[in-house]
Amino acid sequence: LKLKSSSWEWFNLRGKVFKRKDASWVDEYVLLVRNIHDQKNTQKALLKAEKLSIQGEIARTFAHELRNPLASIGMVGEVLNRKLKGTGKESFGNYFKILKRSTKTLNDLVTNLLNASNYSPAVLKEEDLAEIVDSALHKAADRIYLSGIKVKKKYKGSFPILADKEKLEIALLNLIVNASEATTPGEGIIEMEIKSHKTDFVLRITDNGQGMTQDQIDHIFEAFYSNKETGMGIGMSSVKSILEEHDAPIKVSSRLNEGTTFKIYLHNAQLD
Ligand SMILES: Nc1ncnc2c1ncn2[C@@H]1O[C@H](COP(=O)(O)OP(=O)(O)O)[C@@H](O)[C@H]1O
Ligand SMILES: [Mg+2]
Repeated sequence: LKLKSSSWEWFNLRGKVFKRKDASWVDEYVLLVRNIHDQKNTQKALLKAEKLSIQGEIARTFAHELRNPLASIGMVGEVLNRKLKGTGKESFGNYFKILKRSTKTLNDLVTNLLNASNYSPAVLKEEDLAEIVDSALHKAADRIYLSGIKVKKKYKGSFPILADKEKLEIALLNLIVNASEATTPGEGIIEMEIKSHKTDFVLRITDNGQGMTQDQIDHIFEAFYSNKETGMGIGMSSVKSILEEHDAPIKVSSRLNEGTTFKIYLHNAQLD
């Protein structure tokens, strides 16, 4: 029913015959009108919580399953590194460093995933967007280096936003990793730009990768949607939920074989 305040609310209606003249005529009905708006809202909230807890359960399982193979990779790296000592092949040392750093990064991600799936809600504080972008790029540095990607930073100065630094960093890292995976090795360019727009800062992440079809674009934020052979499809869905906690809309535009642009809108903390 529409209320006077012109907002809609849910009502439950039940009717019953109260007084009947004869078999073919009813004089009076009683109508029971019950406002079930709050009940409906609770129902919706419960559904959402249930969905989240299933997602959390899946995330936790994944995270635990990742721990063991990760530990093995790390250990094998250490052992190989030691065995190479004194064989004149120390030049491989750099690769082992990358292996070590990467397993650490993954381990951290797993820890973050475990933490995130406990739904520790985002704790927003005033942070500098440029700093968060820098540190996400730093975390992706090995991957960027190994894929021969050129990063163009188009921002200078500081951009005050309200953010959960760790969470936002994970979201940006996911976007950067996807961008790097979409590009052709040796030819990739990723642009990171921050601009002011009204009361927002707009962070633009553009890659010159393989791009997406409209059908792909329509699905990227769904959990477990992936077009990659070994993809888990949880990156973008976590990006979405993290950005929702920051009240930050994200827009995507993409052209097949040309590249993809994501734009994220974050409030300027000093303006609101
Ligand atoms: N920058 C991008 N360029 C092209 N496709 C992308 C990009 N970012 C995301 N996608 C598409 O979105 C899908 C989902 O991404 P994600 O949730 O991170 O899962 P995953 O990377 O494991 O496949 C990817 O499989 C890919 O098809
Ligand atoms: Mg991904």
